[in-house]
Amino acid sequence: MNAKARGRFITFEGIDGAGKSTQIALLADALRARGREVLRTREPGGTELGEKLRELLLGTDMHPDTEAMLMFAARREHIAAVIEPALAAGAWVLSDRFSDATHAYQVGGHGLAAARCDALEAWVHPGFAPDLTFLFDIPPESAAARLAAAETAPDRFEREQRDFFTRVRTAYLDRARREPARFRILDATREAKTIAAAITASIDEKAWQ
Ligand code: TMP
Repeated sequence: MNAKARGRFITFEGIDGAGKSTQIALLADALRARGREVLRTREPGGTELGEKLRELLLGTDMHPDTEAMLMFAARREHIAAVIEPALAAGAWVLSDRFSDATHAYQVGGHGLAAARCDALEAWVHPGFAPDLTFLFDIPPESAAARLAAAETAPDRFEREQRDFFTRVRTAYLDRARREPARFRILDATREAKTIAAAITASIDEKAWQ
């Protein structure tokens, strides 16, 4: 019997309020309709320990080094307990954020030294990266308007000022431009169905079996 083909690891990034969740749900449905096994997950989180760390990270002020180490600690668990086993079993893993978020938020937004973030990444997942990353690009003022309309209590990151999100957005775009083969930059101000079509087209373009 042939071993099952390894799944694909697809990540979704962007500033808060960019509209990732809707698109992850749509893509999961579309892939399942095509007969793929799909696992939806998120960071920080995705495991029992990861969700506890998420609560701390989103609710408690801390030094940027602490923040980065906790993000990568949650990620270490997430890869070992959820992502790797699912990929090995042939599932497609859709993750709402991964390491690019630490580079954008902690380095770009909170001033963590880039070398520290690189070192943590090299420790936690050397040689492992998403197969494809969608960057939902949106001006911070449009994202803020969406968050305000959502009427949920903002977490520690969502309470940050406009210039924080401008720095995060710039860091994401710099990263995407350095790795064009992995990233697809999406104009997240467009209608949901237009964005969903662009996502499906990018996946089809890969011609993955
Ligand atoms: P979410 O609201 O998109 O689920 O993400 C939770 C928050 O955590 C969001 O504001 C971005 C932030 N975050 C980081 O600052 N660094 C990271 O590495 C990750 C994964 C998330």
